[in-house]
Amino acid sequence: MTNPILTISNLTKRFGGNAAVSGINLEVMPKETMAIIGPNGAGKTTFYNMVSGRMQPSEGSITLDGRDITGLPPHKISRLGVSRSFQINNIFPEMTVQENVEVVLSAYHGHSRKLFNVASRNTGIQQEAVELLKRLGIDSLKNQRAEVISYGDKRLLEIAMVLATRPKLVLLDEPTAGMTPDETRRTTRLIKSLAESGDYTFLITEHDMDVVFDVADRILVMHRGEKLFAGTPSEVKIHPEVRRAYLGEEEDEVTEETGA
Ligand SMILES: Nc1ncnc2c1ncn2[C@@H]1O[C@H](COP(=O)(O)OP(=O)(O)OP(=O)(O)O)[C@@H](O)[C@H]1O
Ligand SMILES: [Mg+2]
Repeated sequence: MTNPILTISNLTKRFGGNAAVSGINLEVMPKETMAIIGPNGAGKTTFYNMVSGRMQPSEGSITLDGRDITGLPPHKISRLGVSRSFQINNIFPEMTVQENVEVVLSAYHGHSRKLFNVASRNTGIQQEAVELLKRLGIDSLKNQRAEVISYGDKRLLEIAMVLATRPKLVLLDEPTAGMTPDETRRTTRLIKSLAESGDYTFLITEHDMDVVFDVADRILVMHRGEKLFAGTPSEVKIHPEVRRAYLGEEEDEVTEETGA
């Protein structure tokens, strides 16, 4: 039997008297794409912050690939294989797109980031960088300086840099936020093909429902810090409580649409 890559037990975070996340249990299987949805303030970002180590849980545990990572600092969790999308300001603007990926790959292969030297680039790493850029569909931009590419392409470069560390679990925080509809469609297609390649395990928060229903194998629906439901996209779509709480529907509308 396959073991979960991520096991969340009774995860809880309180701010003062309020629980932002309350008693969440969840298992994510290897190669699965799990989305977390919920209305504003549902606790998605707080949940994420605990998994990546930015916030200490008040209660509960987080296990990565059999190892308890609860409360470890972000750099340790990252070293153990949880990679969160970098902020765009982690991109080196004056370097080319390809060099940005090479910097991360060099660090991954044990070379110092500071010693990265364009003049003595390693051919293996160069090839690996181009392969990754191809997977993100931005290899045609490889020789452009990172500062001149579009916002959407920068976010794809960011994902290439995340994947370069060969993470066990990739956390994508609203990967299409701020993108144009075209960029959103392109990014959704890409995430879907990366997910289907079976090479990665994704945990995604996303406000765009079309993206969520398209890419997720399973969806965790949060509401006021609690797990309202976890299931496949088709189960989520017809779940009456989810529709009421999340999609803001009235009860009789739900009854009518589901034919119940
Ligand atoms: N550092 C903090 N101190 C106090 N309260 C906080 C803190 N961070 C989050 N909260 C509260 O916890 C609750 C959950 O917030 P969180 O940001 O996790 O929600 P979210 O689902 O990510 O919302 P959104 O969709 O708006 O991003 C909210 O009521 C929020 O006000
Ligand atoms: Mg949030």
